[in-house]
Amino acid sequence: MKQLTLDLIDTVRGISECVDLVNPVFSHHHKRVTCIALNIAQRMGLSLEEKRELAIASLLHDVGALSIKERVKYLEFESDFGVKNPYNHAEIGYYLFKEFKPFLNPAIYIRYHHTYYADIEKDSLPLGAYILHLADRVAISIREGDILLQSKTIKDRIRAQSNRMFNPEVVDGFLSASSVDGFWFDAVYMPLDALIRENNLSKGINITLDELSSFAWIFHILIDFRSRYTATHSCGVAGVALELARILGFSKDELKLMEIAGYLHDLGKIAIPVEILEKSDRLTEEEFNLMKFHVYYTYRILEDIEGLEQINTWGAFHHERLDGSGYPFGLREEDLPLGSRIVQVADVFTALTEDRPYRKALPIDDALIHIETLVRDKKLDRNVFSVLRSNVDLVMERLSEVRRRGLEKFNNFYSTLGVNDYAFSVE
Ligand SMILES: [Fe+2]
Ligand SMILES: [Fe+2]
Ligand SMILES: [Fe+2]
Repeated sequence: MKQLTLDLIDTVRGISECVDLVNPVFSHHHKRVTCIALNIAQRMGLSLEEKRELAIASLLHDVGALSIKERVKYLEFESDFGVKNPYNHAEIGYYLFKEFKPFLNPAIYIRYHHTYYADIEKDSLPLGAYILHLADRVAISIREGDILLQSKTIKDRIRAQSNRMFNPEVVDGFLSASSVDGFWFDAVYMPLDALIRENNLSKGINITLDELSSFAWIFHILIDFRSRYTATHSCGVAGVALELARILGFSKDELKLMEIAGYLHDLGKIAIPVEILEKSDRLTEEEFNLMKFHVYYTYRILEDIEGLEQINTWGAFHHERLDGSGYPFGLREEDLPLGSRIVQVADVFTALTEDRPYRKALPIDDALIHIETLVRDKKLDRNVFSVLRSNVDLVMERLSEVRRRGLEKFNNFYSTLGVNDYAFSVE
């Protein structure tokens, strides 16, 4: 089976930036934490591999916080959550990222990024994990205005927590690294590209399509599980697209790529507030415009990952239409290969047969009639549609099975992790 070479830093950078976009309150939080953490790690002489793991963990550490409300909660410097009451987003991050082999160590860093040093067995974690925790607290302490004026207060605050919140060795590393102005300027200017280059963090690793699929699976959970209405959407699209592609004669490797494209097609929704995904009234024009951004983000995030070009073309063009009336690029028939057309039909079919906050799922026949109209209007592909119509029982069998498993996973996810209401809250 086909192997791919991926640069791990590239795979997470775009996603990290996108999450930072969700709300200006976060003001590039992931990026800032990564810059601070790398500067401390460099000062402490961590190995290349440890620095790479730390960068991945820093870039993703709060991605498990599924709603804005939850993310805002973690901007307070100190709270009484210790290991007995683990932060859900840290636990979610661990639970998901460990499923992709190269992220196993970063997943451990993420799990403990809010845990007090005093609450766990002494020095049981890799140094990077302690650095991430401290860097995160430094980042949230930074306010608008003169950074050098703030630096003393921040240093005092961190020093006072040596041995309690933070590993004393890492506190020393931080105090030493932050004794120069450049450390603080980096914390504000956030020269992530330069730090990645200086530290030589880019490195291609070989992964199989199955491994890539587990990587995509993680992100499908992060996208879909933010709202019960979308809980099985991406895996549903993946299932339908896979079935259609199989009937249309795609090869085994192409089918894997198609499944991955389905998992990732709505990746950019990670930057859309859950409040919009859950809204039961009609979206205002402004909200709809924001919603439209999601495919654009998908495209731009995937574009930065060398090796995923085909997945991007298939997945990110699912709101384009053959007559050029789609978005965000207004592509036309000649720009849209069969793979993209399959995902378009799979997306519409899956969405129409799902409940939405503002309507119930459509019966299958009605969904088919609806898609037929779009085909007649030259928006969706006629051939793909006729494959769907003549095999609708088979497709539905697969879709129902995928949905059943997805829902089971969704319920398990929330009960196992002790996460209850926050992903749904619309306050
Ligand atoms: Fe966090
Ligand atoms: Fe954070
Ligand atoms: Fe979409």
